[in-house]
Amino acid sequence: MHRAKIAVVYHSVTGLTHQLAKHIVMGANSIATVDTVTLQIKEEDLIESRYSQKKLLALNSVNAIIFGSPTYMGSVSAQFKSFADASSEIWQHKSWKNKLATGFSIGGSMSGEQQVTMQYFQTLALQHGMLWLGMDAHRNEQHPLFGQLNRSGASSGLIAHSTNDQLHQTELNSARYLGYRVAVMVERLSEGLTNICNS
Ligand SMILES: Cc1cc2nc3c(=O)[nH]c(=O)nc-3n(C[C@H](O)[C@H](O)[C@H](O)COP(=O)(O)O)c2cc1C
Repeated sequence: MHRAKIAVVYHSVTGLTHQLAKHIVMGANSIATVDTVTLQIKEEDLIESRYSQKKLLALNSVNAIIFGSPTYMGSVSAQFKSFADASSEIWQHKSWKNKLATGFSIGGSMSGEQQVTMQYFQTLALQHGMLWLGMDAHRNEQHPLFGQLNRSGASSGLIAHSTNDQLHQTELNSARYLGYRVAVMVERLSEGLTNICNS
């Protein structure tokens, strides 16, 4: 039987994006029929400032890619951009076309332009012909499995901000929920479109 696969690709220096990524993977893994692969963008994966093509190949076989970056000076980090630029070779072959996509970003400020980072992820996804999945939980919505969600009230993806370099519990809950949501939608798509509108 074909098993659906989700990739989480992210850059993190001080570990908060990394923590969000871990919780996204936990959420996705709560659907037993879905596998996850994690790609943390590291300095050693950059060759002349471009992300390794070899590592990128791992993404061709997945059904969904979840992009993550800290917000740096109002956009993605340079390291995430080096990953995105390296994906131009994949763009030529349309290998990511029709995969699901979503994203997550954290900033040190409540309104530190994380939305711009999210718009960058969306642009990248749309350039690749991917299908963007937003955050459907309302601000501070209570979820029966994951608890309180979406402190920022963003609908474009998971937007987080730190307080004293710590993550708020609501944002860890939201990360798990986002991974779960992508896994559920990947499964529904593989079952056929008639099922997709069920909540
Ligand atoms: C170079 C640099 C630029 C930053 N720019 C922003 C910014 O524009 N907006 C914001 O809210 N936070 C900004 N921050 C704070 C980081 O987004 C924040 O510390 C984040 O948690 C880092 O993620 P990490 O822990 O995964 O490395 C910046 C930090 C650095 C180092």
